[in-house]
Amino acid sequence: CRLVVLISGRGSNMQAIVNTVRDHALPAEICAVIANKAEAAGLEWAGAQGIASLSVAHRDYPSREAFDAALAAAIDAFEPDYVLLAGFMRVLTPGFVEHFNGRLINIHPSLLPAFPGMHTHQQALATGVQWHGCTVHFVTPVLDHGPIIAQGAVAVQSDDTPDSLARRVLQLEHRLYPDVVRWLAEGRVSLDAMQRVQVHGVA
Ligand code: GRF
Repeated sequence: CRLVVLISGRGSNMQAIVNTVRDHALPAEICAVIANKAEAAGLEWAGAQGIASLSVAHRDYPSREAFDAALAAAIDAFEPDYVLLAGFMRVLTPGFVEHFNGRLINIHPSLLPAFPGMHTHQQALATGVQWHGCTVHFVTPVLDHGPIIAQGAVAVQSDDTPDSLARRVLQLEHRLYPDVVRWLAEGRVSLDAMQRVQVHGVA
């Protein structure tokens, strides 16, 4: 299973995925890590692991469409089965999403459909939810929607701050995303007629 990972910053989810693929000898290959800015810290880490790491800088393109076309071309060169968004902070055009239909996956730091968009931990605390977490889902043109593959939950504590909550959710992300990558690599994820995700062989 060929994978390309897209990042925008530190890339700790990408690192968790790379480490899991290697440590558990998953039938997967991280073919490339691509960032939308050259200074994304995760690029250097990926390069040091011997993974092709490159940037397609959104600032170099006059429009979202032009950037997405360049990004799609860079990804296509690696012929991935799946493209994993891991802290990739650009909204993608419908054309890009269509191009990778069924192959584009994202992790979002909330229990979707609650709290799409930014500042999810702050939103969770402001709303007073008792459970918060993260969601791995197929990407559709609507931001932070799309068929849900897996979720992980943490209990919100009365003394939580956005930072403390973010830390616990991030630890969960680092387990959840690699789990999903394993299911994808083993060919166990499919969509049913209702566009709901089925994961085969999970007890
Ligand atoms: C993660 O919380 C991800 O869910 C969110 O941004 C953060 C990225 O962290 N969208 P990292 O770059 O994977 O360390």
